[in-house]
Amino acid sequence: MRFTLLLAALPLILLTGCTTARQREPIAKSLRIDSPKLLRGEKAYMHYCDKCHPGGDTGLGFAIKNKPLPEFLVELQVRVGLGAMPAFSDELLPDDQLDDITEYIKLLRKQ
Ligand code: HEC
Repeated sequence: MRFTLLLAALPLILLTGCTTARQREPIAKSLRIDSPKLLRGEKAYMHYCDKCHPGGDTGLGFAIKNKPLPEFLVELQVRVGLGAMPAFSDELLPDDQLDDITEYIKLLRKQ
């Protein structure tokens, strides 16, 4: 009985033993999402873009927050899908949502 208890507690002991008490600083500064448009943009970005451009940084795709790409080029990239990036039709991603996303990317750049 004692032994099984110990066995059951073992993962817990190991887990707590291996973590540090110090809280790490969040790597990215938190963004100021202060309008409904940005909130929608963030949501759409997470849904459509974040898996390849995590947080606007390099992932499967290039970083997009580190350069001042004009809005129309971002939109062109999304609609036409140059290179390895898939194209997003306006049925999949309506214009107003894309507009929210570009607004959100501008905020990412200010980070
Ligand atoms: C399946 C992965 C994937 C998804 C999803 C994706 N991208 Fe990309 N993206 C890429 C890749 C790969 C590239 C590099 C394309 C190339 O070969 O030139 C890229 C390039 C870009 C570029 C050009 C960057 C540059 O330096 O020229 C922009 C802007 C961009 N993506 C925006 C977006 C936005 C906005 C979304 C969401 C609507 C999105 N991407 C979703 C993979 C993705």
